[in-house]
Amino acid sequence: GKGTYPFYMLKEIDEQPTVMRHLISEYADENGAMKVDADIIKAIQASDRIYIIAAGTSYNAGFGAKQMLEDLTNTPVELGVASEWGYGMPLLSQKPFFIFLSQSGETADSRQVLVKTNELGLPSLTVTNVPGSTLSREATYTMLIGAGPEIAVASTKAYTGQIATLAFLAKAVGEAEGNEKAKAFDLVTELSLVAQSIEASLSEKEAIANIVKERLLETRNAFYIGRKQDYYVAMEASLKLKEISYVQCEGFAAGELKHGTISLIEKDTPVIALISNNPEVAAHTRGNVMETVSRGAAAIVIAEEGVAREDDDIVVNAVHPYLSAISMVIPTQLIAYETSLQRGLDVDKPRNLAKAVTVE
Ligand code: F6R
Repeated sequence: GKGTYPFYMLKEIDEQPTVMRHLISEYADENGAMKVDADIIKAIQASDRIYIIAAGTSYNAGFGAKQMLEDLTNTPVELGVASEWGYGMPLLSQKPFFIFLSQSGETADSRQVLVKTNELGLPSLTVTNVPGSTLSREATYTMLIGAGPEIAVASTKAYTGQIATLAFLAKAVGEAEGNEKAKAFDLVTELSLVAQSIEASLSEKEAIANIVKERLLETRNAFYIGRKQDYYVAMEASLKLKEISYVQCEGFAAGELKHGTISLIEKDTPVIALISNNPEVAAHTRGNVMETVSRGAAAIVIAEEGVAREDDDIVVNAVHPYLSAISMVIPTQLIAYETSLQRGLDVDKPRNLAKAVTVE
């Protein structure tokens, strides 16, 4: 049950530090060595390209892990929207390995692709929260997120749990490959720091509620912007806000805004910028924020320690860059939750939606 919580979504947001710690105990031993099925590692080592197939939030989680997977496994990673791939696959590499990301393990669009890859005899891994689910049974391998039941329609802990699960996979494969970055990446320590960063963000609920009250309560539209890893988080943040608050929201690559879409900025249009601790791009994203502010936007800046400034609205504790999608998404989950709550909507059961989409 949801205990003292008004909605499952808030409970599930709060559970995320526990999910991170659970994954550490599940996929690493006491000495910090990876506990990932050797057959999965071998299958990925034998492949020349990883294809991640998913829908919605799980698709966004794939992006959150893409850079890390490529860096640590030396294997290119391509993302595919399940509903697009179900009706004609693009030209595949010689030795593809498929990863299906699915909280429920029951998404029909994703299964449609799995049926095809099985027909082609290609190896696959399902990363899911539901043991024994269809996608888990039908794929070659399974890795469980173990986040506990996710009841709210809007997915939160499955997103962060998927990225963390893929981190263990990436490190395990990278170590087997002798990849120096993989060996140097102290995942157990880094993920513990992520859990602490999440806890710090969770203690900012009141501040976030106030930001929502002042700048998001009346609006019909909004933008999330960011570059690189932050762009991927922007896509997930905007999906979440749309889904449960019905605010039309676009997640945009910050530098791409000026190539057309900036014409939508009006007085008080909320523009929420995500700026993680990547000095190479942080200044550029700030420049893009200024461009929108000079056109009347109401900017909200979520910045990570290291590149944060005193007047930023929300500051997130710094984590390893591979894991920043996990920590940076937390304030955006709370923004979506608060916007839905303050608008008096049914946070857990948005209109027109089902938890698992079992039709194509
Ligand atoms: C968004 C959301 C959906 C699901 C999507 C995939 O909050 O819940 O976008 O992420 O339907 O579902 P799974 O991961 O079960 O395949």
